[in-house]
Amino acid sequence: MEFSNKVAIITGASVGIGRATAILMAQKGAKLALFDINAETLENLKAELSQYTNDVLTIVCDVSDENAVTESTEKVMTAFGKVDILVNNAAVWRIWKPFSDISTEEWKKFFDINVFGLVYMTKAVLSGMLERKYGRVINIASVAGVYGNANMVNYSASKGAVISMSKALAKETTPNGVTVNSVSPGSVSPSENADIDHSIASELAFAGRTGTDRENAELICFLASDAAGYISGQNIQIDGCRKKM
Ligand SMILES: NC(=O)c1ccc[n+]([C@@H]2O[C@H](COP(=O)([O-])OP(=O)(O)OC[C@H]3O[C@@H](n4cnc5c(N)ncnc54)[C@H](O)[C@@H]3O)[C@@H](O)[C@H]2O)c1
Repeated sequence: MEFSNKVAIITGASVGIGRATAILMAQKGAKLALFDINAETLENLKAELSQYTNDVLTIVCDVSDENAVTESTEKVMTAFGKVDILVNNAAVWRIWKPFSDISTEEWKKFFDINVFGLVYMTKAVLSGMLERKYGRVINIASVAGVYGNANMVNYSASKGAVISMSKALAKETTPNGVTVNSVSPGSVSPSENADIDHSIASELAFAGRTGTDRENAELICFLASDAAGYISGQNIQIDGCRKKM
């Protein structure tokens, strides 16, 4: 199978795009370490994945806590011995407020999780990838980081940082076999919906609908695969041809 003998960490794994990615990777033979702050949804997913694989480690970990990230990635190394694929998916994004109403605490929270969480996770696994001259880092950004969303200025800024960080880091790591890319979804069907093929009508895309969790997961899986070894430093939008923000 495509991911036989590959070990993948997915953060924010228990719902939405992260969950769909976990399902597809499990079906393709990966060993999975699933990180999330929600213990209950993590365990639900582990039970769901048992039809495909039992090589699933669930770890309750707040990615914005550097010590917790270090301890959690050490558990992955103990269980699986290496990390080939890192999908930095955990984020907060539900905010609809004009700039002047966004508090300093809300700015810090969005950057602590969406940017520093990604920094801590990447720092924890990158040296092993570079030593083994193989790695796939996929950072989930957003069209908000490309175009900027009104009433989501802190979120947009955090995702802009994810995109530029991915491009810059790729230039350091690609010579040693570690690709780094970001994926920027447009509007995705509500992550509360368990159906990974769920889509609803949307005027924000020329496609006329939201993207599904599966469509996003398919792109992430491709970038995580051996077949994508010559793609690095890219931000790939998956937005049904976005028409307005
Ligand atoms: N859903 C969309 O329309 C959309 C659009 C563009 C980009 N994105 C991005 O896609 C990614 C996934 O979004 P989604 O909507 O599928 O899922 P979601 O936002 O509903 O869930 C994210 C998951 O991350 C977990 N999480 C939150 N904070 C965490 C932390 N500090 N540490 C560890 N885990 C944490 C949550 O418990 C949850 O399981 C995010 O990076 C988001 O910014 C989503």
